[in-house]
Amino acid sequence: MDIVFATNNNHKVSELRELFRGYFGDKVNILTLKEVGFKGDIIEDADTFEGNAYKKASTVCAFCGLPAIADDSGLVVDALGGAPGVMSARYSGADADDIRNIQKLLKELENVPLEKRTARFVCHICCAFPDGKRLDCEECSEGRIIFECRGDGDFGYDPVFLNEEYGQTFAEMDMETKNKVSHRGKAVKAFAAAFASSNVDIM
Ligand code: IMP
Repeated sequence: MDIVFATNNNHKVSELRELFRGYFGDKVNILTLKEVGFKGDIIEDADTFEGNAYKKASTVCAFCGLPAIADDSGLVVDALGGAPGVMSARYSGADADDIRNIQKLLKELENVPLEKRTARFVCHICCAFPDGKRLDCEECSEGRIIFECRGDGDFGYDPVFLNEEYGQTFAEMDMETKNKVSHRGKAVKAFAAAFASSNVDIM
């Protein structure tokens, strides 16, 4: 069975391929957008992670007539009423990048004490099928936003997101540990398990 992964992030493709291989051997083949010839730009303008994931999955499914998987993720900070949320990648505006986004986050939280800096990363995964059915999974990873960057990891908000169980920011963790506790690691695993126990015919 062929399934398209609606992402341009090669790291995510390798991760999902690896996990699906563990569950399904060579019965499920994960294809990239490039492999199915999808060149469009999907605007992520929904106000939920679920809405964005479904939009990406259903657009690609309609394009190629194959089941399509997409994910959407971001950081939810309690003291900011859930911001940056679905705006995580573009939080600091049109010229947003990871450094500017972190600077803006720390500025917004300037007067907020540690005990009120609770936050979580959320990841929603959706698979859209050509017959209109869908399969969804959402997982999160709890933590706290610290006052300055710690660690070498250079992805998104990792340097300021403290996992209290390990006493490390996501940027200080090795990949294996991060995958064990992260929203995406948990969501991908939950999704693969849900897919395996669903009645999707993968033969
Ligand atoms: P996307 O769903 O992969 O496009 O992620 C949206 C944005 O959320 C990213 O650009 C990051 O700013 C943030 N984000 C999502 N997951 C993580 C993570 O594991 N670490 C740090 N930032 C993340």
